[in-house]
Amino acid sequence: MKQKLLTVILAAGEGKRMGNSIPKVLHSICGKPMVHCVLETVLSLAPDKICVVVGKGADKVAESLKQADSNILFATQEKLLGTGDAVKQALRCAGPFQGSVLVVCGDTPFLTRKSLKTLVTSQQKNGCASVLLTANMQNPIGYGRVVLSQTGEVVRIVEDKDATAEEKSIQLVNSGTYCFDYNALYKAVSHLKPENVQKEYYLTDVIEVFVKSGFSVKTVLSEEDEIFGINSQEQLSQANKIARMAILKSILHKGVQILDLESTYVDARVKIAPGTVLLPHTHIYGKSVIGPECRIGPGAYLENALLGPAVHFFFSAASNCKIGKGSCIGPFAHLRPNAKVGQFCKVGNFVELKNTTLGDYTQVNHLTYLGDARLGKNVNVGAGTITCNYDGKRKHKTFIGDGAFVGSDSILVAPVRVGKKAFTAAGSTITKNVPPFALGVGRGTQRNVKDWSRRKFNK
Ligand code: UD1
Ligand code: CA
Repeated sequence: MKQKLLTVILAAGEGKRMGNSIPKVLHSICGKPMVHCVLETVLSLAPDKICVVVGKGADKVAESLKQADSNILFATQEKLLGTGDAVKQALRCAGPFQGSVLVVCGDTPFLTRKSLKTLVTSQQKNGCASVLLTANMQNPIGYGRVVLSQTGEVVRIVEDKDATAEEKSIQLVNSGTYCFDYNALYKAVSHLKPENVQKEYYLTDVIEVFVKSGFSVKTVLSEEDEIFGINSQEQLSQANKIARMAILKSILHKGVQILDLESTYVDARVKIAPGTVLLPHTHIYGKSVIGPECRIGPGAYLENALLGPAVHFFFSAASNCKIGKGSCIGPFAHLRPNAKVGQFCKVGNFVELKNTTLGDYTQVNHLTYLGDARLGKNVNVGAGTITCNYDGKRKHKTFIGDGAFVGSDSILVAPVRVGKKAFTAAGSTITKNVPPFALGVGRGTQRNVKDWSRRKFNK
């Protein structure tokens, strides 16, 4: 790019059509807030300055974006007077500038780097006041229509709500993405008037200002799917479906097998290595990373989970946790935050792990709760084992050494330690440390009352 580039992202809008109190641009598409989709594409152009206009939920939107890039400028739009006013605030915030201004809406998540680059290059090469990104739409309802002269020159943009029946039949729409010459834009926004159905300052009206001043306005034609703007929950749902299918296809191309596309959900930031198979009803969210040759599903919920190679995970849920190579999880296991499962472990049915580490080859097969525990290698945990880690006020730790054998139905009252190769007797309540190689017995001795039932029932 020859000249300097200022990019403005419009993200202040009320989002009334979304029907809730969440700022519209923070609604997610496959786990990524839509304004982040736009920001990532913009960042790929390496602009000299980025200014985001915030208004509704300004703090939340700014907070979320600052995490992605700390150099962003934020212009606060006190009153949401329309896109024209939003750009005015952005120019004020960015300060004096010479060059091009790329304006994008925070609610058009599918814009591509290629189109933005073409737009900027075209504006800079032709030196025109503005280049608009447009598309021909089958069903243009809701979009601004680009009115052309008989010779095919841009005359103005008319909003759907202000259009005549004849204008509504125009299929060439405004994507809300433009590249302007800074000086021309700066002057034009001061001429805007809120004389329309919505009583707003429309950015789109600058086009007519340019044309009337004899400045040239060009268009770049894009695809319908790329410029899809999200204004309602229905459109958000549609966008999620489009994005989901695109993600799944890109995963397929990388050598991952997916048995049923319809019931598989993978977030945009997830990474899956080749040779892994996703079975039906698999959900992988957040920043999960799945190693090669895993078998995930049927019925898997993974969120921010890191899986090594060849993990088998089915009918189970796991979040913010790590599972090592060759381990088998499920069915019906629940791995809660900070569960770290080593290599070749087994976590079986109705087992819950929280803030717990399992050493390699450790087995926790049935009906167990382990919280705030650290288990060594080759530990065998019997069915029905429970760590009592919470005393009503504080959490306490349980340590179990390498090769230990925890008998079925053991109650481990933390803080407590079961030493290396120690045993606990089945049905024990372990309140004291069990030294290495010892057997901890913590239960009443059995006595049998002779003929008890005969006496009770007189038989
Ligand atoms: C806008 C365009 C329309 C175009 C469509 C493409 C105008 C007047 N209309 O309509 O021509 O076809 O986008 O998707 O520009 N915003 C602010 N401050 C405001 C109002 C809006 O920052 O005061 C932001 C919103 O957060 C949103 C963007 O601007 O990200 C567009 O606003 P929106 O209300 O969605 O405009 P549309 O009706 O979709
Ligand atoms: Ca919109």
